[in-house]
Amino acid sequence: MTADTTTFPGESTLPGEHLTEAIISSNNLVYNFRKIQERITDNCRIMGIVKANAYGHGASHVSKTLESLGVSDFGVANIQEAIRLRAEDAVSQNAAILTFCPPLPTHLPLYLRYDITATICDHDTLYAAESVASAHNTPLRVQVNIDTGMGRLGTSPEHALSLLKAVETSPYLRLEGAYTHFAQSTRQDDFTEGQLSAFRQVCSEFEHHAAKSICKHAANSGALLFRTDACLDMVRPGIMLYGYPPDENANGLVDLKPVMELRAKVIFIKDVDAGTTISYNRQWTAPSRRRIATISAGYADGYHRSLSNHTKVFIRGTPCSQVGMVTMDQIMVDIGNKSDIRVGDDAVLFGWNGHGAADTAKAAGTISYEILCAVSSRVRRVFV
Ligand SMILES: Cc1ncc(COP(=O)(O)O)c(C=O)c1O
Repeated sequence: MTADTTTFPGESTLPGEHLTEAIISSNNLVYNFRKIQERITDNCRIMGIVKANAYGHGASHVSKTLESLGVSDFGVANIQEAIRLRAEDAVSQNAAILTFCPPLPTHLPLYLRYDITATICDHDTLYAAESVASAHNTPLRVQVNIDTGMGRLGTSPEHALSLLKAVETSPYLRLEGAYTHFAQSTRQDDFTEGQLSAFRQVCSEFEHHAAKSICKHAANSGALLFRTDACLDMVRPGIMLYGYPPDENANGLVDLKPVMELRAKVIFIKDVDAGTTISYNRQWTAPSRRRIATISAGYADGYHRSLSNHTKVFIRGTPCSQVGMVTMDQIMVDIGNKSDIRVGDDAVLFGWNGHGAADTAKAAGTISYEILCAVSSRVRRVFV
């Protein structure tokens, strides 16, 4: 296996075999990208959503791979994530990087310095952006976010036209597009329909007024699967790139391959008698004489504490129940009478074959997004 490793802030660069690793399959990422491409028309662009360190997969590596497939738009949460892509030369200079969080006034010079596209949601931010861009005599790229029902960020549809016009007429702002975000994209209901039509309506009024078309985008993974009419000029898939459907409604609609496999080492094995309790608060008691393996991953690596006594790991292909409380740095698993498991073996916590992050998420009472994003900076990413 040829492994290319990348170091993240806070990650150990010390020598020695790492005890916990997230193995990132580039082939699976490419496979998922192709599946997304199959669902859109040739003139619809794909923005690679690489926020939150590409949902835990390593933003630089994922962005480089996506750019090699023709992607030239990238979506991140904030200015620091955007700067990191530029600083690590993860994407070429002319690639567009959009931050979904609107800028604080103090961030605006950084948008100019690193050529990042700012999200504008109101006139105050527009005036601040205009004044910083004019002081630097440099145009600032912007996109307008229109809140059609997500209730998080964006101008209301009633105020969107005046905001778009103000951006358009500013000599210092370059309007690169307008977007909205769905609140429940995996439901084909009237609410989502209303969001899409409110967005289309205001964009078409603006395009009519400006006598030109702009890049309009709305579709996340859910909309890609459930609403082809929402794909517009660009789509913004995140979770599908990483190999999971957005929720259970979408199971089976598309064939995707998990990109990340989370592995940790067996670091200790012991035999315990019936009645022995394992881990904090003694929440598991051995029903008979058992072999217990200790695995080098805990909640500090992103393995949720709520998984305690609820899930399994795979060692040499054998499912082994996790027993007792998940601790900060280790979990314990019952390896029954299996005698071929050794210290140094890999345990697969979730991954490519069978037991994926969606299964782990179900056991933890959460969603695959959270399981993937939680994989912490202590875990070394290995790209294969
Ligand atoms: C604005 C925006 N667009 C696109 C996405 C990608 O969503 P998904 O991962 O469901 O495809 C997100 C993710 O939360 C987002 O916030």
